[in-house]
Amino acid sequence: MNAEWTLNLLDPEFRRDPYPTLARLRAEDPVHRTRWGAWAVTRYDDVMQILRDKRMSRDMRNWSGFERKGTWKEHPELAHFASLYMMNTDPPNHGRLRGLMAHAFTPASVRAMRGVVESIADGLIAELRDGEPFELMSAFALPLPLAVIGRLFDFPYEDCPKLRRWSAAFAPFVEMTVTKAQKDEMRAAVQEFFGYLKYRIAAHRRNPGEGLVDRLLAVSAGADAGAGAEEKLSEDELLMNVAGMFFAGHETTANSIGNGLHALLRAPSELLRLRAHPEWVPNAVQEFLRFDGSSNIVIRVAMEGFELRGKPIAKGDVVMCMLGAANRDPAQFDDPDRLDVTRTGVQHATYGGGRHFCIGAQLANMELEVAFERLLKRFPRLEVDSLQVEWLDRVNLRGLNRFVMTGWG
Ligand code: HEM
Repeated sequence: MNAEWTLNLLDPEFRRDPYPTLARLRAEDPVHRTRWGAWAVTRYDDVMQILRDKRMSRDMRNWSGFERKGTWKEHPELAHFASLYMMNTDPPNHGRLRGLMAHAFTPASVRAMRGVVESIADGLIAELRDGEPFELMSAFALPLPLAVIGRLFDFPYEDCPKLRRWSAAFAPFVEMTVTKAQKDEMRAAVQEFFGYLKYRIAAHRRNPGEGLVDRLLAVSAGADAGAGAEEKLSEDELLMNVAGMFFAGHETTANSIGNGLHALLRAPSELLRLRAHPEWVPNAVQEFLRFDGSSNIVIRVAMEGFELRGKPIAKGDVVMCMLGAANRDPAQFDDPDRLDVTRTGVQHATYGGGRHFCIGAQLANMELEVAFERLLKRFPRLEVDSLQVEWLDRVNLRGLNRFVMTGWG
């Protein structure tokens, strides 16, 4: 690989189709140093090794450039809340937070949500008018997971538009490149959203039920916490982790619907096969997640120096695990650039790996299964207006900003 060449995550062409560049990196420079000093790791085995490596931290405050770049200096309260979110923590704190959240977020409660997810999906599809073009993201892909996660937290359905607004402002929180204007907007959204959450939580305290918020309250120390409170969720931890889960569970799932349908419509033979065998949808969903997942990059910081494929990773260096690249690694998947809805046993990297493996994977899988079952059933013909496909201007998340469907009904 040309020594001058470096990966540019902001290149519009890379955003539109990152896979040729990722393939080149994976083959020629699998542990690649980018222009701003971070390492981009692209082979499946290396990505999984980094995600499972106990020497790697998820806490960006360990990054050697953290102070110098002043990442959150102007908003210390955002930095404070960010540090409480389980996704940004290391052991032992991570284990405590994840244990408390998982305790409230059981597989049985996810299974019990299926009927709710189906009725929300049906309701959204019923609003589409026969034969008229529609924009998939705003009409279906975004409102579905938003309403589902809202239901999980017992937020009233009519609050969805403002939740969506806060969520959009909050989205750059997980991005590596955040502008000052985005941070200001995020700060305002966080304040409003946390005010809303406090109000909702107070209502649950007055009137306890059996939902997720009630189960989280049962493991929370409350504002007037006394002895033994360190084992529980503090008030700020409760707020941040509810907010974090709300955001983590919404846009990733929406983008997976968009990316999956986009991939399927561009592979007509696979679309035909799936229509003929709707029972393959759960399998196909895993293939969609592999083929064009919505989580492009997850980051770690090295807590000590080591070598990876002969490259010197220093203490404090950022390592970007390029999940999309790992998912197309020919050493892991046969013919990886081909969408194959019958591919079985797909161990994709889209939900990450190691201790931070997505806690919502089961819920997301179920939502995606319902979404694809419903879309394929309701629309015997479905075509994409290729001129009206627009990718999001994002680095860590991959998804469509605009995705117009025509020729259906
Ligand atoms: C298709 C949809 C989804 C994708 C692609 C996705 C992807 C991911 C990835 C890659 C991670 C690991 C991050 C890291 O290692 O740094 C993660 C963690 C996480 N996800 Fe998801 N996710 C999805 C849906 C959800 C849903 C529905 C929820 C909640 C209801 C959720 C909540 C979380 C949380 C709280 C974490 C942090 C876990 C931890 O730090 O232990 N995600 N997700």
